[in-house]
Parts: sequence; structure tokens; C-alpha cells
Amino acid sequence: MEALPPPPARILIVDDDESVRDVISVLLREEGYHCDTASGAEMALDMAERDDTPLVISDMKMPGKDGLWLLEAFREKHPDTSIIMLTGYGDTESAVDCLRRGAVDYLLKPPKLTDLIRSIERALAKRRIELARKKYQKKLERKVRDRTTELRKALKDISVTYENTLMALVSALDAREHETSDHSVRVVEYTVAIATQLGIKGAELEEIGRGALLHDIGKIGVPDAVLLKPGALTPDEWVEMRKHPDIGFNMIQPIPFLSVPASIVLSHQERFDGRGYPRNLKANEIHIGARVFAVADTLDAMTSDRPYRRGTTFANAVAEITRCSGSQFDPEVVKAFNAIGEQGLIRIKEDMTARRRAREASQMTPSHGLPAASMNPPEGEPGPTHH
Ligand SMILES: [Fe+2]
Repeated sequence: MEALPPPPARILIVDDDESVRDVISVLLREEGYHCDTASGAEMALDMAERDDTPLVISDMKMPGKDGLWLLEAFREKHPDTSIIMLTGYGDTESAVDCLRRGAVDYLLKPPKLTDLIRSIERALAKRRIELARKKYQKKLERKVRDRTTELRKALKDISVTYENTLMALVSALDAREHETSDHSVRVVEYTVAIATQLGIKGAELEEIGRGALLHDIGKIGVPDAVLLKPGALTPDEWVEMRKHPDIGFNMIQPIPFLSVPASIVLSHQERFDGRGYPRNLKANEIHIGARVFAVADTLDAMTSDRPYRRGTTFANAVAEITRCSGSQFDPEVVKAFNAIGEQGLIRIKEDMTARRRAREASQMTPSHGLPAASMNPPEGEPGPTHH
């Protein structure tokens, strides 16, 4: 079936002089255009509200609202309507003003038919191109938006996969030492809570959390005979044990998205006063994530039950950490830690336990219970459970 030709463009002729309106509309109708007329600017605007109006030919000088008013009103309410202005002889200044305000053309009154038709055709062609451009632009924007959504989703999937992989790795390590991954998860939660209190957020906060999660990953390189030894370590065994921050750092540092966590892993056994290892870093030389982690790790070590002792109260742990502010711990971090307060910390632990129970119930697997074993000899200071 052959497509029908498009209907003739509707042209609205606006002039207060009835004879001018009639002459122009009769001539244009003979040329095949569909014409409507209006005797003033406000009437023209009303008509455009009712019917699609691609083109307006308007007189400049009219009683009441004039051509400039019409131009402004159409720009605001019908920006896709093209407007040709008719101006009196010698009024070039306002004609130029019209063009500046968005009219597509101006013609001197009375316009010659050939000039009028040329101007109409030019305006309609320009409008068609402009509308096509806008349509294309919209389509393009929609496409970009769709692709961005897809990409964002893909990135999120990847990051969830990363997190799950890291969790699996940490669970495997914890299983070797503690038989449960609760310790690592709790340390991450405390670390994130203290870091948030310090005003850290966004990507930096995520990286610090990841560093806390992976802190002991280097223990994979520590022999079982040392890591799982029930008694005190010999000096040689301590040398082996103290390699774990370096081993962990070397493992994950080449992975681009783990470079910040890697520096936390490397410095997680440092102390604020410079008496830690492996590099005896001091104060701000230690990554802020590692300084926060040190407090979080000690809190969890002190408040968790061990086979050979019950965990102490949060009040005792808070007091002990506060006592070691400036020696083992960064005073600024301890200040943020104290701002969370004993009740705040207890709530964090209770929330974690509730979440774990809900997860276990939904998986219908038996609970692992409390951490079963820790191989850490007491070191005098309220230091981390691990070596
Ligand atoms: Fe460690």
C-alpha cells in the first residue's frame, strides 16, 4: 500500500488588520497550505493550545499584546513552533530584535508572495531538521541511560562477586585458626563503625573495611606447626609468625582494587608508639585504616570467649583501650571509639549476632557457636588475639 502524503502544514496568520489576514490566507491556500487566522496575539496563543501549530506568521505592531509578546509567549509555551514576523518599513531595529528572540525570519509588509513562500518553506524545513535532531538526541540519551544502568548493574555484580570471593578466602583462613569467621566479620563491623565516627565515608570506608577483613590473610604462609602451636612460641617461631603482614601485603598488593587494603594488611600489627612490627612505624606513618583496626581488633579479642577464658565486659575493654591511648593506639581513634560508647558497641555486636542467627536459620544449617580456639599467648598488653 502506498503511503499517504503528509497533510499540508497548518499556518496561523496573526494580524489585527482583517484585510491583510484575508489576502495572505487566500494566497497561501491557493498554494496548498492549510491556513487559520487570528486577530491578536492572545487569540493566537489560545488557538495554539487547541491545535498543533507548526508555523505562525505574525504582524509586529498590533493593539494590546504585540508581536514581541507573541514571540516570547510561544518560545515559552510552544518552543517547537516557528515564527515569521511581518514588520513595517523602516522598523529594522525591532526586526533584528525579533530574530534575536528566536523568530526564524522577518519580512517587510506587504510581503511578496514568492518571498513569503520561500520563507515558509525554509522555516518548515528548518523545523523538520530541528525536530529530527531533538528526537535523535532523546533516543541517544535514552540509550546512554539504559547502557549506564546495565553497566552499573554489571559492576555491582562484579563487586558482589569480589566480596564473596574475599569472604570465602577469609572464612577458609579463619577455619584454620578459629573454626569460625565471626572474628573477622566482627572486626570489620567495629572498624567501619569507628572509621565512620572519624568522618571517613564512601570508597575510603569500603577500602578500610576490606583491609580489616583481610588483615591476617598472610597467615596462609605461616606453617601449621607455628600457627596452631598450643604453647608459647620460641624466638625462631616468632620470626616466622611476624612475617605474616609482609606475606599478606605481597599477596594482595598486585591486585589493583586491593592496593589500599594491602597497605592496611602490611601495617595492622604496628603500634602508635612505634613498638609494633614489621616496620616499627609511628603515629601518622601508620595507615589510618590500620590505626582504627588496632582498636577494633583489641576490642573483639577482649570481649570474645576463648576456650581457656571468658571474654571480659565491654566496659573493661573500653577502659583498657582508653588506658593504652597514645601508646598502643592513636588518641584520635580512641576518642572516636569512646564517642560510640560502651552501649553503642554492645548494640553493634548484638545486631551482628542477630543477623548471623537469621542467616543461619534461613540456610537451615546448625550454628557454629562461639569461637572455639585461639592460639595466642597472652602478651601483657591488651593486644590482638593473633600474633
Ligand atoms: Fe595479625
